[in-house]
Amino acid sequence: MKPQDDKLDAYWMPFTANRAFKAAPRMFVAAKDMHYVTDDGRKVLDGTSGLWCVNAGHSRPRIVEAVKKQVETMDYSPAFQMGHPSAFRLAERLAHMAPGDIDHVFYCNSGSEAVDTALKIALAYHRARGEGHRNVMVGRERGYHGAGFGGISVGGIPANRKAFGSLLPRVDHLPHTHNPKENAFSRGQPAWGAHLADELETRIIALHDASNIAAVIVEPMAGSTGVLIPPQGYLERLRQICDKHGLLLIFDEVITGFGRLGPCFAADAVGVVPDMITIAKGITNGTVPMGAVLVRRGIHDAVVNSAPPGMVELFHGYTYSGHPLATAAAEAALDTFEEEELFKRAQELAPYFEQAVHTLSEMPNVIDIRNMGLVAGIELESKPGKPAERAYNAFLKCFEKGLLVRTTGDIIALAPPLIISKAQIDELVGMLGDALKEAGRD
Ligand SMILES: Cc1ncc(COP(=O)(O)O)c(C=O)c1O
Repeated sequence: MKPQDDKLDAYWMPFTANRAFKAAPRMFVAAKDMHYVTDDGRKVLDGTSGLWCVNAGHSRPRIVEAVKKQVETMDYSPAFQMGHPSAFRLAERLAHMAPGDIDHVFYCNSGSEAVDTALKIALAYHRARGEGHRNVMVGRERGYHGAGFGGISVGGIPANRKAFGSLLPRVDHLPHTHNPKENAFSRGQPAWGAHLADELETRIIALHDASNIAAVIVEPMAGSTGVLIPPQGYLERLRQICDKHGLLLIFDEVITGFGRLGPCFAADAVGVVPDMITIAKGITNGTVPMGAVLVRRGIHDAVVNSAPPGMVELFHGYTYSGHPLATAAAEAALDTFEEEELFKRAQELAPYFEQAVHTLSEMPNVIDIRNMGLVAGIELESKPGKPAERAYNAFLKCFEKGLLVRTTGDIIALAPPLIISKAQIDELVGMLGDALKEAGRD
């Protein structure tokens, strides 16, 4: 068969309504700073940092130059039994940025791989200490931890799980923390909900026994299921219970890492040090695929020291772990974040952003608005019998007006690049407000 350039058939798109998309495609062909450019030459304001990843804005010069230079110098270096300097430099830097005694870095290529890696490290750690019976994993309802088998097992999105069989055999889930009756229209961390962490002890540990549980994994702020903000004291409580029973606590910071909530990590924002942090997305500013697990010293040491000298200690890794283009992009992204003080900027802009997004409470069908740092969720009342349709229509109307938003169910998520200006925040909220008004008439 002869390939045809203008055909859309062959590409089976991920997490996309393929037939609807191919009937009315939306194509980006360029991007710079806060904007995309469509194939018909329209500028679109990026209200979602691509897919929560372009934290410093698009095609930033330092990152572009670093990747160009790297690909000319060395395109690839084997990940196993060989190294290259940038991978070590970046790991040292991430270890310094990470909270507490988190000081080791295991590279992979995506958030999904980071999650599966963290779960495997948790199992390897317990086994190295002679507690290999600890193999129950605890996730949370409405959690998203990527699309791998490990990630969908601990994840709590029914649609992502239902077609794929029995998944990991021993998993349980905490309740999610969102209750519109108790915490609707909260600004920042809601006061209600810390007690939901107690279910880890009163139900899950009571059922499985702590001696069988390996780890608890949560997104400190759940992004993909519609911006669920951690209640005040909730993550602290999870930490206490995990400590009491010897469970590892994993924060999945694939979205929250690199300034989304202000400080570099959500762990810093709430003052809780987990045992591992999964990262991806913003680490390279979305430029080159990359993920990593940041690991506490004791976990690393237990696994590494349990193997005989000269032997591979952890039988895990990827051809592209620490790929030179990814590490070059990441080093340059961290330089950009630092030079432009973007995390501080996010923190300073957050109150303005909060004020602006909450003005949308007057718009038709809005039943909740919640926010933290430079992220917000706007929840719409679903049309009877047609869940997700209203938000999807609003998404299409935003796109027509020149704004990219992300929707999940009937929730619209905003997570603009940290370089957004106040005037662009006003523009974003203006376009979204108009789209909601129009969607309300349909
Ligand atoms: C919290 C979280 N974990 C994991 C992932 C998966 O990342 P990736 O799509 O890079 O595999 C995502 C993606 O949105 C995420 O939000």
